[in-house]
Amino acid sequence: MIIAIDGPAASGKGTLGKRLAAHYGMAHLDTGLLYRAVAKALLDAGLPLSDEDHAVEAARTLDPDRLDEKALRGAAMGEAASVVAVLKPVRAALIDLQRNFAARPQGAVLDGRDIGTVICPHADVKVFVTASAEERARRRYTELAGRGVNTTYEDVLADIRQRDDRDMHRAVAPLRLAEDARLLDTTELDIDAAFRAAIAIVDAVG
Ligand code: C5P
Repeated sequence: MIIAIDGPAASGKGTLGKRLAAHYGMAHLDTGLLYRAVAKALLDAGLPLSDEDHAVEAARTLDPDRLDEKALRGAAMGEAASVVAVLKPVRAALIDLQRNFAARPQGAVLDGRDIGTVICPHADVKVFVTASAEERARRRYTELAGRGVNTTYEDVLADIRQRDDRDMHRAVAPLRLAEDARLLDTTELDIDAAFRAAIAIVDAVG
């Protein structure tokens, strides 16, 4: 069983992916962490994010079970990730890793931008999680403010719009709704309601 969850930044797909995987006893891969890890490897080495050769090398050596989530979180790394994510060879270098993960015997939940369209086009269930940019910015801002991060709602909204734009308009594997994906708009839903809606979608499939 493969569950593909795609959607824009701060849509809640990561939290949903984690909860679905725990609920069904499946493995979970937040594929955004892969692009974040590639970006971090370049930044740590003092290399520009456009250094394709080093980005590919970093992508090839990633271990999906050893992603340091804490070090990779944060808006700056998300923004840097979306810059390396436009590089075709980087995306190509991450395909097998993601497909091997999807083939894990206990089943897998993968969340990202191109799981249902490119990585696992034959996934058993595809969910496209979204919410208005304003609502996503509100959630992200509340989370950041709660952690004491000094930012404004307007800055968070501008970041989200910029990342949406880059993810939806890039040439390779842009964020888009797969034909056979179910749309889950969480603008009016809290996380528990969104989780129940996602469970209903998965259970209806099998
Ligand atoms: O989901 P997250 O915010 O961690 O993703 C960071 C960036 O990585 C995204 O903005 C996107 O550009 C890129 N990404 C991608 N394909 C995926 C997952 C993430 O291009 N499957």
